[in-house]
Amino acid sequence: MNMDATRFQIIRDIRNTLCYLKQSGCSGFDCSREQLEKLAHLGASRPDEPFRKETLTAIRDALGDCTRCPLCHARTHIVFGEGNPDANLVFVGEGPGADEDRSGRPFVGAAGQLLTKIIAAMNLSRELVYICNIVKCRPPGNRNPEPGEIRRCVPFLKRQLAAIEPRVICSLGSVATRTLLDTDAPISRLRGRFHEAMGIPVMPTFHPAYLLRNPDRKRDVWNDVQQIMKILT
Ligand code: URA
Repeated sequence: MNMDATRFQIIRDIRNTLCYLKQSGCSGFDCSREQLEKLAHLGASRPDEPFRKETLTAIRDALGDCTRCPLCHARTHIVFGEGNPDANLVFVGEGPGADEDRSGRPFVGAAGQLLTKIIAAMNLSRELVYICNIVKCRPPGNRNPEPGEIRRCVPFLKRQLAAIEPRVICSLGSVATRTLLDTDAPISRLRGRFHEAMGIPVMPTFHPAYLLRNPDRKRDVWNDVQQIMKILT
């Protein structure tokens, strides 16, 4: 290898390592989108050579017929996520319910229909955004996923987010929000303002299933998603 090739290879290795650490949730150094883009530009042997990101298909292949946690035993389908692989906006829910487990698709039950209406009210469609969950298999009886189950599953979500690189994430409900923001704070205190995960702005809001039980909170959710719409336009 000549000197230039060696230098480019080192820069690529640094960038890949930073990406990997970022996807694994490491912080404490600057792996913001801007810095990673700078490194990608420096590391290209030709200025127009793009950095190859992991694809959603490769991540789905890596997940395989997952048996990494006990949720695999009762599931019918893995619910990987669906939508636009280049989405500007990703919705992250908690985990599949009965309808999602049956169909293999996220947010297709009653809560999902409300989410679809919220997305339409934002002048978007399910095909334009990406929809996924913290865990990809249904927790029996719709209980909350346990910390060990989340720990096993969330690296795949982070790889999906790194592949999509959305401009905004909307976390739905307390499990998604607390996991992404790594906090124990209640959703009522976190919602309504932007936070950050993996260098991406995160807007927490109430889960659509909670809205079905508490329709008076729809106004709050509308305020939250309007802030997202401002970022996107
Ligand atoms: N609730 C969730 O959190 N995710 C789904 O996919 C469906 C319902």
